[in-house]
Amino acid sequence: MSETVQDKVDFLVIANRLPVDRKIDDDGNVSWKSSPGGLVTALEPVMQRKGGAWIGWHGAPDEVVEPFHHDGYDIHPVPLSAQEVEEYYEGFSNATLWPLYHDCIVEPVFHREWWDAFQKVNKRFAEQAARQASEGATVWVQDYQLNLVPKYLRQMRPDLRIGFFLHIPFPPIELYSRLPWREELVEGLLGADLVGFQTPGAAANFQRLAKRRPGVTAARGRAHTPDGRTVVIRDFPISIDSRGFHELATSEKVKAEAIKLREDLGNPGTIIFGVDRLDYTKGLRQRIRAVGELFKEGKLDPHEVVFLQLATPSRERVEEYKILRDDINLLVGQINSKVGTIANRALVYRNESVPREVLAAMYQVADLMLVTPVRDGMNLVAKEYIACRSNDDSALVLSEFAGAARELKQAYMVNPYDIDGMKATIMKALTDSPKLKARKMRAMRRQVFDKTIDVWADSFLTELEGH
Ligand code: ADP
Ligand code: G6P
Repeated sequence: MSETVQDKVDFLVIANRLPVDRKIDDDGNVSWKSSPGGLVTALEPVMQRKGGAWIGWHGAPDEVVEPFHHDGYDIHPVPLSAQEVEEYYEGFSNATLWPLYHDCIVEPVFHREWWDAFQKVNKRFAEQAARQASEGATVWVQDYQLNLVPKYLRQMRPDLRIGFFLHIPFPPIELYSRLPWREELVEGLLGADLVGFQTPGAAANFQRLAKRRPGVTAARGRAHTPDGRTVVIRDFPISIDSRGFHELATSEKVKAEAIKLREDLGNPGTIIFGVDRLDYTKGLRQRIRAVGELFKEGKLDPHEVVFLQLATPSRERVEEYKILRDDINLLVGQINSKVGTIANRALVYRNESVPREVLAAMYQVADLMLVTPVRDGMNLVAKEYIACRSNDDSALVLSEFAGAARELKQAYMVNPYDIDGMKATIMKALTDSPKLKARKMRAMRRQVFDKTIDVWADSFLTELEGH
């Protein structure tokens, strides 16, 4: 494979994020950091295997970065001005579409200037892809931030095969209809040959909307457009590099890290673990409240049990994320001031992102994993936990509102809004017989090792290339 950046490629991924973010500290020093979130975790191994190019934003405003070669594929950074970061990324993507697509857990904000910026930036991504794609190339557009790219790109380059995958939920029509630009966004996706979703329900929601467009007929996962094209609409539940995670978690380095971690936590009998981006969709308020109450009521003994929660700061300038950060800090403080001792904190809360080896060590030491989003497209953390565990005596508590619940059926299911129900399920997961837990873990392990990220990418691309 070539080590220099190619002029044109046959396979392109376009996502708002690149796999690495450019960071500049106060002294002007520049470094590259892994980007947060499930999209990058899932797509990195796909690109390492397939090669081609990844087009995306490098995470810093007002900066033009030259293309470079990375891990077997080319990277083409797309610049965003500070105002575009505010209006396209923080605004329309993350204060309009993100809450709207997550069942309006918080109120979506609608601003016409944000919509203008969204169109402008989507055009820029499409133009970049049109420049980089060779004749007849396959272009795979990712996620809600680039909703309009399929349509723009088809106008520029009708020769391309265009796929789109939505990593987050797609809401029911009743909620979606609030959007002042709902027609344009549906048209945007209908520019693709294949539109993929995490669940059949999400695909069905989109099909219902597509059918409402003038001149479009849609049934059984196919929409026929007035310009004579067929758009396939289907679910493709995303996954992880299960073997890669497993090998990492069972490596000597990570095992040593796990021993050290357990010691640092005071060698407790039981470790409960949660790891998320600090996002209001993740059900952190409910989860921390439930565990906090179990400590306060004496059902969990802080001398025996530690709850380790990592929450990576995310979208820090968006109002609802600031509110969430303050709420969680307060809640954690309240719990730790009432339970545990100076030496034994019941709740260890860290606002940080950790390297993958450290995360794997955390999965290794976690006897109980809490994944309790109030809405989530898939949730890869749940799958990572299963892949990293070699010990059967563990348990996964999983929200029924995560896409992963459709596949990890043997998890201890919870409705995160039902705090008492969640408390009871946590206690059950801690006290069930090792035999029952082992059976559940084995079944989930089969699922996670059968349906890997390669299976996901191959099934999407086979469908797209056979179009
Ligand atoms: P989302 O995409 O909404 O963030 P997912 O659970 O699908 O949710 O994916 C999150 C990804 O980010 C996972 O790969 C997870 O390991 C990673 N991640 C989340 N929090 C952290 C953290 N504090 N440190 C390191 N990685 C993290
Ligand atoms: C989710 C979204 C991704 C996004 C990630 C991190 O996984 O589906 O598109 O990249 O969160 O969010 P951020 O806003 O930091 O890119």
